[in-house]
Amino acid sequence: MTGPKSSNITRDESEVSQKDRQTKMKQKGCTIWLTGLSGCGKSTIARRLEKSLVAHGYCTYVLDGDNIRHGLNKDLGFSPEDRKENIRRIGEVATLFADSNQITIAAFISPYKADRETVRALHTEDNFIEVHLSTPLEICESRDVKGLYAKARAGEISEFTGIDAPYETPDNAELTINTADLDLKESVRLLWDYLVSHEYIIS
Ligand code: ADX
Repeated sequence: MTGPKSSNITRDESEVSQKDRQTKMKQKGCTIWLTGLSGCGKSTIARRLEKSLVAHGYCTYVLDGDNIRHGLNKDLGFSPEDRKENIRRIGEVATLFADSNQITIAAFISPYKADRETVRALHTEDNFIEVHLSTPLEICESRDVKGLYAKARAGEISEFTGIDAPYETPDNAELTINTADLDLKESVRLLWDYLVSHEYIIS
């Protein structure tokens, strides 16, 4: 990663410490990074976890691939370069959210290992939780909630992950969840238990 284009810029420091934020908010900011094929359940799990966290009084927010591509990243497509830039920008946003002590749930295919590692490295506080939703392609394709696999098979969409674009399986994810084996409640429970056992939330 190259440094800033601008020169003559300096960093400004907050007068609020992370410890102060954590004590006030009764949580420790982190990024839960959900990665996996389209249709593996990233958004569904993200939304349900968000709902549970808010119901218990925690501050959380979902960054979702389809949504972010309508705004911040509307200039990006699905080439490897554009996906890299997509994930780089989201990584920066997630880092800011984590710094503000939010529990951020990021739901992006993020198919390239190197891009995910870039985001991990941005999180200097050791607060990046990579979660691989390992649901097999056949299952994701059979669900085809958005009808995109059918379009990709018909050649109407190119560079579709799992069809004619790669997905690089994580080898150091903190958690792996196969939504073919676990239902939504069980999947969310796993994430919740992780947050509790690693003291991101005090339940
Ligand atoms: S990523 O690869 O750059 O991380 P991202 O998560 O932002 O992807 O967006 C993926 C979403 O875009 C999918 O859930 C799907 O709805 C839609 N999509 C449209 N075209 C493609 C494509 N060629 N490959 C993958 N997803 C696509």
